[in-house]
Amino acid sequence: MKRIAIITSGGDAPGMNAAIRGVARAALGRGADVFGFHHGYQGIIDNEIVPVESMTVGGIIGRGGTMLRTARSKEFMTPAGRSRAIDTLRTHGIEGLVVIGGDGSLTGARALHEEFKFPVMGVPGSIDNDIAGTDFSIGFDTAVNTALEAIDRVRDTAYSHERVFVIEVMGRHNGFIALESGLAGGAEAVIIPEVPYSLVDICTYLKEMHARGKRSSIIVVAEGASKAADVKEFIEKRTGFELRYLVLGHMQRGGSPTAFDRVLALRLGAHAANRLLSGFTGEMVGVDGNKLVSNPLSYVLSTDRSVDPEKLLLVEVMAR
Ligand code: F6P
Repeated sequence: MKRIAIITSGGDAPGMNAAIRGVARAALGRGADVFGFHHGYQGIIDNEIVPVESMTVGGIIGRGGTMLRTARSKEFMTPAGRSRAIDTLRTHGIEGLVVIGGDGSLTGARALHEEFKFPVMGVPGSIDNDIAGTDFSIGFDTAVNTALEAIDRVRDTAYSHERVFVIEVMGRHNGFIALESGLAGGAEAVIIPEVPYSLVDICTYLKEMHARGKRSSIIVVAEGASKAADVKEFIEKRTGFELRYLVLGHMQRGGSPTAFDRVLALRLGAHAANRLLSGFTGEMVGVDGNKLVSNPLSYVLSTDRSVDPEKLLLVEVMAR
């Protein structure tokens, strides 16, 4: 195999540029020609091909977002759209495709592999960290640190005004960002979709702590569990305390990737290029602890990641 292409697809994540660099420099180092398509799968359908040389990926390691841009493609979800995509790839003599993205993007990669036997390799890129087959997805660490910076800043004003704050973080249907940032930020409560919760119990806890002299608290809520505004309103009505809330939203998707995410992205990008150029296909690369691994996309996409119960318990123990 001597000609490969790269796309970034779905929600962007800090570190995607480092992953593009990892794929490109590893493949170029093995004598391959490297190309990219702008705007993910739609860009393949629309023939938005660009050459990727060593210098193309210079100076991007620390930049958030993706130089190849991204998009969600309804057309690619149709057999006709996927055929058009394969035609574009074959017209350019592309022999393998690296897809950097989340579960939706990896599902598209699996389709190309299964329907057309086209060589593909997935790289987990999503701030949600909800992709099986890897302990970490690219962007998760940066998003957690972005949320943590907000929690630390809010803690100051919560203390000054003796308020309770509710902070809503991203994560789609999962609570990985909420749990990690809540634990690191010393949140008094973390609400995630994976675990049943009781706002009544949280109110009881807040009143108990108030009686013990604790005048400010922070509650982190994952967007998949509830809305910060609703949690705030319920607690205010039931306790009479003064609350404020904020929704971090898309700021968790941007920013310069952390060192952890940059190194993870470089490692996974290079691993994906090496696997693809060595003849492997239909897989997603990942890390198991610190070990590089690669799993079939069929396994990755049929397996759910679960939150760590030990961390959940730790949130409660630390808040007492
Ligand atoms: O999957 C990443 C993510 O940021 C989720 O956490 C969030 O729910 C979703 O994307 C937002 O999607 P969009 O950028 O299309 O609004």
